[in-house]
Amino acid sequence: MRIDLITLFPGIFEGYLSESILKDAIERGLLDVRSHYMRQWANDKHNTMDDRPFGGGPGMVLKVDRVVPCVEEVRSYDANPGRLVMLTPQGRPLTQRVVEELAREERLILLCGRYEGFDQRVVDILRPDEISIGDYVLNGGEVAAMAIIDSVMRLIPGVLGDETSASLDSFSSGNRLLEEDQYTRPRVYRGLSAPDILLSGDHGLIEKWREINRKEKTFARRPDLLDDDPSEERGV
Ligand SMILES: C[S@@+](CC[C@H](N)C(=O)[O-])C[C@H]1O[C@@H](n2cnc3c(N)ncnc32)[C@H](O)[C@@H]1O
Repeated sequence: MRIDLITLFPGIFEGYLSESILKDAIERGLLDVRSHYMRQWANDKHNTMDDRPFGGGPGMVLKVDRVVPCVEEVRSYDANPGRLVMLTPQGRPLTQRVVEELAREERLILLCGRYEGFDQRVVDILRPDEISIGDYVLNGGEVAAMAIIDSVMRLIPGVLGDETSASLDSFSSGNRLLEEDQYTRPRVYRGLSAPDILLSGDHGLIEKWREINRKEKTFARRPDLLDDDPSEERGV
């Protein structure tokens, strides 16, 4: 998968892209991440990207005549124009289902806002997929873009060591329950023991325990997940 980041702060991604699973995925050619410095598309001597909002009010707005040419040029860098995602608190919420949808794309373009966000005409012209990572406001879209990259890359074949682990994660399609409690050595710590069944070697019993644990946990913490009708989400 190719991911193009459009941002005013490309440096924010540097450490993130050069660590752990992501670094490995890039080195193995499973992910191709390129970042583009939005200010390069500012064409005045002050490199202006933002301006005061019409009608007054606080903050600054990212200018349509800078952002649109920037996105159009970045899209043209590859024969596949990709799916354009705009990070915004006003977008549709990022869920595992949306992550699964994005993971099917061959190219994603992640457009990160700053200040008060984008001139509305950026949306009207480019018609991006507007995505929010939650009902709270960040300073910029970079952390939200990282959340998308981090969750999407887990679903790209070959990125995780164990191919089954992503499909068993909480919220995954086909697993509408939260993941079961996990334990590893030591067997007893500060008087707390791991469940004996997990060490019994009886795979049938272990699976049964896990299933009950998943259901009880989901019922206690996220009963809303049990209400979801998967056929509705698949558009059946
Ligand atoms: C300070 S926010 C602008 C918020 C905007 N004034 C509003 O009230 O909707 C600046 C940028 O951060 C990013 N951002 C902030 N919160 C976000 C969220 N929950 N999800 C995705 N992006 C977010 C967006 O790219 C946004 O353009």
